[in-house]
Amino acid sequence: MDNIQKLIHQNQDRYINELIELLKIPSVSAEPKYKEDVLKAAEFVSEKLVAAGLDAVEICSTKGFPVVYAEKIIDSQLPTVLIYGHYDVQPADPIELWTSPPFEPVIKDGKIYARGSADDKGQFYMHVKAVELLLAENLLPCNVKFMIEGEEEVGSEHLGDFVRENKAKLSCDVILVSDTAIIANDIPSITVGLRGLSYMEVEVTGPNRDLHSGVYGGAVANPINTLCKMIAQLIDDNGHVTIDGFYDDVINLSEAERQAINSIPFSEEEYRKELNISTTQGEKGYTTIERTSTRPTLDVNGIWGGYIGEGAKTVLPSKAFAKISMRLVPNQQSEKISQLFEKHFRAIAPESVKVKVTYHHGGEPVVVPSDSKEYAAAERAMEKTFGKKPVPQRGGGSIPIVALFEEELGVKTVLMGFGLDTDDIHSPNEHYGIFNFLKGIETIPYFLKYYTEG
Ligand code: BES
Ligand code: MN
Ligand code: MN
Repeated sequence: MDNIQKLIHQNQDRYINELIELLKIPSVSAEPKYKEDVLKAAEFVSEKLVAAGLDAVEICSTKGFPVVYAEKIIDSQLPTVLIYGHYDVQPADPIELWTSPPFEPVIKDGKIYARGSADDKGQFYMHVKAVELLLAENLLPCNVKFMIEGEEEVGSEHLGDFVRENKAKLSCDVILVSDTAIIANDIPSITVGLRGLSYMEVEVTGPNRDLHSGVYGGAVANPINTLCKMIAQLIDDNGHVTIDGFYDDVINLSEAERQAINSIPFSEEEYRKELNISTTQGEKGYTTIERTSTRPTLDVNGIWGGYIGEGAKTVLPSKAFAKISMRLVPNQQSEKISQLFEKHFRAIAPESVKVKVTYHHGGEPVVVPSDSKEYAAAERAMEKTFGKKPVPQRGGGSIPIVALFEEELGVKTVLMGFGLDTDDIHSPNEHYGIFNFLKGIETIPYFLKYYTEG
């Protein structure tokens, strides 16, 4: 294994160029106009898996976008590691805020700028290249399976069925995912928890049509005014979510656990500076780290209605809309929280409006143990390649498949990601460091080796 670094160095231009080709495909799963491109990305991934030397490569259709599957079984006595990732990406807009077009990757200051560079194309592609390298050198220490999906960014809606229908095919000892971040390039970390998600859309209707705001304004409920008032009530002055029962199932952490979580390297000042905000805010009694990892939250993701064109139009709109998400922590359940939200939202609506609530996707929160064989292997691998022992850290984002895998396959996941929180995933100018990409390719072989050695 010790000439891995040298081999990566020899091949790094090719690795980067291949990733750039993948990043040129606008595989935005949320927007129907990119449907062909999403399928093209699946095709690209399957071709690269074949080229890497994997067997049984297959583009498995689902009711949504396909799952790309591949495997290399070298010995049924050896452990099997299933590598999960996603080839779909978030929408690129607001497109005008990108300094270079989102699907025309450029390298600047050692980073590749493109939508999906860090989330998750650049990250899962490290696995394709790492396994390619191991196969070429006859060094693959265990069996591997790949499962790269195309609907993660829209809630992995059809993945549950796929997993249930393909239990034998997906059987494995552990799942390895690179779709999270490290604390800094010189502070490696392993993600030991993810938040769940409930995503809702609300529609508030006032009068049956748009009205002149002078003729009717003052007497007829304005749905935008009303929606804003309702949303404002969802969080109180202490930063608590006011939905009845919202915190009922939350597992409160012990003082020792809280202390451990708050002891990870973190500078509040740098955090504020990097975001250009003068202060952080949130649930009273909790730190920024806790607020973004171990505490549940509620955020408006989008709000619209009325006239938003140029200039001014005097109108009392008929409807107002908002997309609202809640991040969940163990033991909250997505479906239950969605129902509590709907009940509460209807209850606080004044009689002057009608309310419609739609459920979008959800996902369950997870905690990953740090005393397991797989955690130990990831820890050793990162220590080997970073020269520093990684820190366990809970992440604030969601990856719905992790809870699903555990429930359906009874298999645990290792979240060994190589991104940075400042990679601007889901934002304009998403980027992924070349250092991180290459470090991932270097670390993955050691994970496989140490995991196999047990
Ligand atoms: N890779 C992210 C999740 C993530 C990012 C976890 C950073 C930890 C740290 C993933 O692609 C993602 O964005 N998931 C969505 C959930 C999905 C249901 C839309 C999310 O968290 O919003
Ligand atoms: Mn992701
Ligand atoms: Mn994402």
